[in-house]
Amino acid sequence: MDQFQDQSAAATQQPKAPSAERRWWHTATVYQVYPRSFCDSNGDGIGDIPGVTSKLDYLKSLGIDVVWLSPIYKSPMDDNGYDISDYRDIAPEFGTLADFDHLVAEARKRDIGIVLDLVVNHTSDEHPWFVESRKGPGNPFRDFYIWRQPAEDGGPPNGLMSSFGGPAWTLDTETGEYYLHMFSRRQPDLNWENPEVRQEIYRMMNWWLERGVAGFRMDVIDYIGKQVDRELVKDGPRLHEYLQEMNRETFGSHDILTVGECWSATPGSALLYSGRDRNELSMVFQFEHVTQQWDEVYGKWRPKPFDLVKLKSVLSKWQYALSDDGWNSLFWGNHDLPRAVSRYGDVAGYHGESAKMLATVLHLMKGTPFIYQGEEIGMTNVPFTTIEQYRDIETINMHRLHVEAGLSPEDFIKGANESARDNARTPMQWSAALHGGFTKGVPWIEVNTNYATINAEAAMTDERSIWNHYRKLIALRKAHPVIVYGLYQSWLDQHPDVFVYTRTLDQDRLVVIANFTPREVPLTVPSELAISGECLISNYEPVDALAVEKIDLKPYEAFAILSQAP
Ligand code: GLC
Ligand code: CA
Repeated sequence: MDQFQDQSAAATQQPKAPSAERRWWHTATVYQVYPRSFCDSNGDGIGDIPGVTSKLDYLKSLGIDVVWLSPIYKSPMDDNGYDISDYRDIAPEFGTLADFDHLVAEARKRDIGIVLDLVVNHTSDEHPWFVESRKGPGNPFRDFYIWRQPAEDGGPPNGLMSSFGGPAWTLDTETGEYYLHMFSRRQPDLNWENPEVRQEIYRMMNWWLERGVAGFRMDVIDYIGKQVDRELVKDGPRLHEYLQEMNRETFGSHDILTVGECWSATPGSALLYSGRDRNELSMVFQFEHVTQQWDEVYGKWRPKPFDLVKLKSVLSKWQYALSDDGWNSLFWGNHDLPRAVSRYGDVAGYHGESAKMLATVLHLMKGTPFIYQGEEIGMTNVPFTTIEQYRDIETINMHRLHVEAGLSPEDFIKGANESARDNARTPMQWSAALHGGFTKGVPWIEVNTNYATINAEAAMTDERSIWNHYRKLIALRKAHPVIVYGLYQSWLDQHPDVFVYTRTLDQDRLVVIANFTPREVPLTVPSELAISGECLISNYEPVDALAVEKIDLKPYEAFAILSQAP
């Protein structure tokens, strides 16, 4: 018997009937656009809404159903729009409300829904609510935010720390009180315990729903139930009560997609957020699989070596936990994470093969796949050499803190090139033209130097490109219910190099096999999986049959075979 043969109880699990309720977003594929970096229509170096509209046909030909737009609201852009100063207007550099309405209408013509980024844990310090609030106790907006008296020594009220470095409290010298900001000091946290705050947010959400949006991605939504005085931020006691209230007062009566960004989510809490009868959200983003490599002390700035057994166990855990109720989101990357192919693949040796392998493994799981812009052409991390090339507030703050603490600037840049958020934020590479065809002006952040070879125009004309592989995966999801609803089961859990799983629904069984290494790997196929069938997708020559003997997987080889369920 193969040493990696799966002994887990899961391997004997019997396929169950799929959940009765089917929703449109079960079959959808979502594409995240980071507007600033997607397409610049007017040459000011900043991507904008007309730029997104001009690329709808591109998205349609890829097969996308939903576009999640990172924030486009009015904002001083301290955190690239995650600091909103007017929830009902568009940042001038991105366009106008008319441009937005036009985008929604043009998207609808192509059966594409627009999902907005809802940032309601905090606002900008330039939001009129905060401008009023900081005028002092007694102002009607004082309690819209979280103000506290200094500690006895005059310092911050407690030890809460900001995600962007330093204390989460800033002293307002005018009134002598501190306000809370879990992110930059220009992103004060709203006070969700105040019912007026909640009602204002709901009114705003309804205003956008009436404009025809197809859903909301909810920024750090697991923070809104916080209890500041207990230093309890994520997953606070009133979180689910607020979400149910929000659902009732806003989107509950609309057939939309909602996804909560929840770094604290566990399989247990995900069932609360996304359970069928919970009336909260469609699904959440959990980050357990993408934080596997984070260091206990230095976090993402000093990633540990990749460990496939660990990654598989996390992904499988989530697949099993939400198999009967709740729903998974599936993603490798977003605007806060490094490029997937750089982290898990091999850009130098097997760029195409590894990017396609990663896509295959993810898109054939159960859940709604999210593609981050540029992932579909295999965009890579940045080759920056100095901190001046970075734009992200988190990276700039962390650079200062780490270098002050003694880390060499070179070592910091090395870590940043692997983990900083700007890895995902360099401009979309459309063509081999100057600046990758992103802008006719000077881009706000440098384009990755590899745009001459990695770009959408080249990818679309090459039948064997990463882009065409994604296109095929998206189409397969629409054609085969087993991909959407099939029971997930993992195999060979302890195998250090290969990921094997099956999906089963009625008469169909899909076997997915992927080599995560740049080496040839001999694999003994478990006898239950030795079948012949139709190869739905492969990143080398199609494989139609598996025999109970060693097969040699090529570097980063991945394929899926559809056959009759045993
Ligand atoms: C979320 C966003 C991130 C932002 C932060 C504060 O994590 O994804 O980009 O900086 O919230 O809004
Ligand atoms: Ca522009």
